[in-house]
Amino acid sequence: MKDINEQNNLKEYSDIDLKIESPLAWIILNRPQKLNAITPRMIMEIEDALNKLRDNSDVKVIIFMGSGEKAFSAGADIALLKEADDASIRHNLTTRLSEVLMLIEKYPKPIIAAIRGYALGGGLELALACDFRLASENSIIGLPEINLGLLPAGGGMQRLIKNVGIARAKEIAMLGELIDCNEAKRVGLITKILSNDNFVEEVKKFALKIAELPQLALKAIKLSILAESEPPYFSGQILESFVFELLIASRDSKERINAFLEQRNK
Ligand code: COA
Repeated sequence: MKDINEQNNLKEYSDIDLKIESPLAWIILNRPQKLNAITPRMIMEIEDALNKLRDNSDVKVIIFMGSGEKAFSAGADIALLKEADDASIRHNLTTRLSEVLMLIEKYPKPIIAAIRGYALGGGLELALACDFRLASENSIIGLPEINLGLLPAGGGMQRLIKNVGIARAKEIAMLGELIDCNEAKRVGLITKILSNDNFVEEVKKFALKIAELPQLALKAIKLSILAESEPPYFSGQILESFVFELLIASRDSKERINAFLEQRNK
């Protein structure tokens, strides 16, 4: 694999790693020590990488994956949520995340989420914006924001409803229930379960098959399916960002965020 930063002398990434392996490109969420928790910088780097890959005709399929085997991503960085009185952090973790996930959803090339381990909160929201979700046998999926007195604010609930229906979406988002890959596959959240051992190879095989399909027709189908659901869907995302701002300022949420961070410092 070539590192695009070295190859093209473009700007450095710290929170993601971008690897080109034509016809595939891998965007690797790269904070394994924090279970690839999402930062404003990571969101910005994902956007930058997607913008660079759009016109790269060597790249036909993009794959998001987490660094390490423990997590795809455990969601927004909770330590940063503690600083969310800062309007720019709030904006970056909600509106900007929402915008980048919309970019993924409307992106003219197929995008795969390769989930190993935890895909929680914003991590699951990112995966839900992708076209296909491949999950290893040890994957755990959920939207635990409720436990922090928050809501998923990246458009995840709209996408969840579309995938699993209202009743199941309520259990997952309102109860913060974590589900394993078998249950996730059963309810329609996961495209395919892959073995832990050959995970990367199997993801690659799946992606290469897609890379052989007619690219223009793939784009047309992807965008046509999206067009079916646009208006109420996007107003839901705007509402989520707005409500997140109210919740993050609440005493309940502040206490729960502190509780999470203090437990980790023990
Ligand atoms: N934000 C920031 N840091 C996070 C994180 C997050 N969302 N999720 C995990 N981490 C950090 C932990 O604080 C810990 O850091 P430390 O080693 O410096 O203390 C490290 O990642 C490993 O996580 P840890 O909790 O020790 O692993 P675990 O196996 O015991 O538990 C989880 C794994 C995923 C169940 C647990 O980390 C968790 O509940 N994370 C939060 C998930 C969440 O609420 N996401 C939504 C955020 S809005």
